[in-house]
Amino acid sequence: MGVLPDGPPPLLGPYTRVFQADPAFAGHLERELGVWEERGGLYFAESPPHPVFWHRNLWEAPFIAQFDSISGAAKILRDIQRNWAPILWTQFRRGALIAQKLPPISRKPRPFPWVIPDTPMGAWTLLDHRTLAVSADCTSPFPAGVIDFPEDHHGPPSRAYLKLWEALVLAGSFPAAGERCFDAGASPGGWTWTLANLGASVVACDRTPLDARIAALPGVTFVKHDAFTLNPQDIGPIDWLFCDAACYPQRLLGWIEKWLASGLCKRFVCTIKMQGSLDGTGANTVDFDTPRRFAALPGGRVVHLYHNKHELTWLGF
Ligand SMILES: C[S@@+](CC[C@H](N)C(=O)[O-])C[C@H]1O[C@@H](n2cnc3c(N)ncnc32)[C@H](O)[C@@H]1O
Repeated sequence: MGVLPDGPPPLLGPYTRVFQADPAFAGHLERELGVWEERGGLYFAESPPHPVFWHRNLWEAPFIAQFDSISGAAKILRDIQRNWAPILWTQFRRGALIAQKLPPISRKPRPFPWVIPDTPMGAWTLLDHRTLAVSADCTSPFPAGVIDFPEDHHGPPSRAYLKLWEALVLAGSFPAAGERCFDAGASPGGWTWTLANLGASVVACDRTPLDARIAALPGVTFVKHDAFTLNPQDIGPIDWLFCDAACYPQRLLGWIEKWLASGLCKRFVCTIKMQGSLDGTGANTVDFDTPRRFAALPGGRVVHLYHNKHELTWLGF
């Protein structure tokens, strides 16, 4: 296994990581990486000294393997582990034949709450007709970083619940019945709807009203207020703090630091909203620094969820 001596010069060359871009945010990934080589949305790069967030999946231990036949390629992968997601940008037919010889992986929408199975999900691509690039260790447990849920078109008043579902599934932890949640920037109420459905008690806070159906759900209390002018002591001990408020990342960070200092909350799920646009000039205003400060907080991590738009998610627990 590994690099065979008589192979072509491997594309991986000096690079030690492969980042799978989210096509809409590839420009952000390029700015985070600085130096890279791209093939079909896969960025071959060194790991920079700072964390990199704007990707769907990071291949943490990629290597090159050469093969002589379709069966040989499939055997290389099967001998490592069961689950493999292909990301093909060339050699599509050959790639499809290799994939057919691997155990099937389900891409069905997952019900919420869903517990991720305890079996790793690897990723592979073809660099040419006899060269695989492979990583058994990947940051995303979802095939190619993608997870879909069966959408509920009737219960929630917005589609924002999908990113909360993904965040909780990824964290492998869900508010339990009776736990106390504070939902900042809650309106119209997709996140509050999710939390109430789990049986949690929710204090939903926003400057604009909740959807009336959500405000009437059992266990939901609405507070019309600027969430960031409320101190942790005004709210008291809570099990979970959720924040999807549209605000500057620095403002959110300052408020979260108060919560951490108070010791009044155990777990946090917060959206870090980017203010810059995705076009050329606006991209220069994207805040790359504050997400790194979130990532440096004790415990937790910052991710770009499949359901995130121009925003990141801090999972603080
Ligand atoms: C993207 S929406 C939230 C969607 C919500 N999570 C859902 O699932 O329906 C952003 C919300 O943040 C609220 N917001 C912005 N600044 C706020 C602040 N300082 N305090 C409270 N809410 C705020 C806005 O009024 C808006 O309702």
